[in-house]
Amino acid sequence: MTLNRDIERIVRAACAAPSVHNSQPWQFAVDHGDILQLSAAVDRALWVCDPSARLLYMSCGAALLNARLAIRAAGGQPDLWLLPHPDYSFEVLARIRISPGTPASPEERELHDAIPRRRTNRGPCTGKPIPESVTAAMREAARSEGAGLRLLDRDQTESVLAASAEASDELAANGEHRQELRRWIGTGRNDGIPLAALPHQPASEPAPVRTRDYFAAVPRARGPKVRYERFPHVAVLTTAEDEPRDWLVAGQALQRVLLTATASGISASFLCQLLELRDMREDDPPHWPGPANQQMIIRLGYAAEPTVSMPRRPLADVLDWRNLAPTAQAS
Ligand SMILES: Cc1cc2nc3c(=O)[nH]c(=O)nc-3n(C[C@H](O)[C@H](O)[C@H](O)COP(=O)(O)O)c2cc1C
Repeated sequence: MTLNRDIERIVRAACAAPSVHNSQPWQFAVDHGDILQLSAAVDRALWVCDPSARLLYMSCGAALLNARLAIRAAGGQPDLWLLPHPDYSFEVLARIRISPGTPASPEERELHDAIPRRRTNRGPCTGKPIPESVTAAMREAARSEGAGLRLLDRDQTESVLAASAEASDELAANGEHRQELRRWIGTGRNDGIPLAALPHQPASEPAPVRTRDYFAAVPRARGPKVRYERFPHVAVLTTAEDEPRDWLVAGQALQRVLLTATASGISASFLCQLLELRDMREDDPPHWPGPANQQMIIRLGYAAEPTVSMPRRPLADVLDWRNLAPTAQAS
């Protein structure tokens, strides 16, 4: 493979990653013809709900995993440097040196092929159990990226869902939080969350699944009521430490878990509220007695309805072509 020839495919794959509020807070550049550099798009950071930029790093980590898989699918070998690097500014999160490699393994191909099919499902799931072989594969996916994935039992699930519901209410009552969220709903641009992708209202109260309360920010978006699954499958992604580098690790692990799930027909949504409130209230975090260094709470299941496809920023906005050879720019 050559970076010049395959760059579009690699960056498009990276941009298909999930990101907080679909903010797509990434920027790519090619350096010396064989290095792909990932930087944070700091102007897309969410300073109210994500004061430490943890969610931004996780989003960029997810994009990084997709880029690595696309490089492998093209027969390249990605050698990764994660931040910090004394020679680069703080926005530079990772650099991938690309050299010729061995052909992708069947597992790498399967994950790569799942990239365009993965979508966040905020709607109901069928409630069908997830086979043990798939949960084992998801745990292994997290482990292979240096993170941990714990599938919660029913009591733990009830307690995390109750804590998430409380966190949702608290965030919905926060005017600054509502204002920030509103800026990312129905933007009419190539980012943010279109009204059609917002979660439905639960048909019963208390709802078994409380997603983020988007309607507190945009009341006119309130849609029809639907019945969510009674017993959601919930998992918690953790890391050994809790520093910016760990958040990039968490993002890559999250995306490997999501692609592993997608390959088996399982979709996911994110119960971010509790961890968001923890990040916002460092001195007095909400109480949920889960594992240490939680990076994401994930709801998994078989989607009951088709999920909506989300917009993405055009390649010209996210890729700095300046270091590419003129022939590649023209193609
Ligand atoms: C770090 C992170 C946090 C997220 N938090 C939430 C959330 O709290 N609620 C939610 O519904 N979706 C959440 N999402 C999902 C994004 O909204 C979603 O990835 C984005 O809108 C793009 O859609 P797609 O995943 O279908 O491609 C999160 C995604 C990431 C990577």
